Amino acid sequence: METCVLPSNWGFTNIGGTAMRNSAHTLKRKLLVASISVLVLAVVLTTDTPAARAQDVDDERVMERIGRGRASYRVYCRSCHGNQARGDGIVADVLKIPPSDLTRISARREGEFPFEEIRELIDGRKDVQGHGNRDMPIWGDAFKVATDTQDDAVVAEKITQLVYFLRSIQETGE
Ligand code: HEC
Repeated sequence: METCVLPSNWGFTNIGGTAMRNSAHTLKRKLLVASISVLVLAVVLTTDTPAARAQDVDDERVMERIGRGRASYRVYCRSCHGNQARGDGIVADVLKIPPSDLTRISARREGEFPFEEIRELIDGRKDVQGHGNRDMPIWGDAFKVATDTQDDAVVAEKITQLVYFLRSIQETGE
């Protein structure tokens, strides 16, 4: 007659019995905590306060600006600053001053990303660096020509989009 050939430690036997019960217990608790968190989150997310809505719209607007900034970067900046913005674009070699690694703007400033300063630096019509000659084009002027506009707000928005994009690619590590 056949005997049962299941190994004795199959399934629910006592291999690590207490440990397993404990971990099952911990798992249950984790699941409980997780489902409560999901509930809380759901409540928070569906509580449609004007502030929450404004925040959503804000985020969307920022994402849109980052996207547009990235597109402008490809057209106007990467020849010097490179595909990955690391300062190694195809014309970098012929410049007197090497183009900056734009993923390290914050790293060069003790982790701060000074939005306004970077805006003005790119714009270039105000000499924020305090030395008249720079190898970087004066984008404030260039965008007026490129976008065929005399409207400063259009130019300002284009530069702002670029700054949002740059802020989104900052590396924090060494
Ligand atoms: C003709 C080459 C060239 C092009 C094109 C160019 N840059 Fe630059 N950029 C430079 C050089 C060179 C520097 C180094 C600073 C200087 O020239 O005084 C620089 C510096 C910068 C800095 C300063 C970084 C820091 O940490 O201080 C920013 C920001 C910047 N570029 C953004 C841009 C953006 C955005 C574009 C595209 C709209 C762009 N650059 C296009 C050459 C270029």
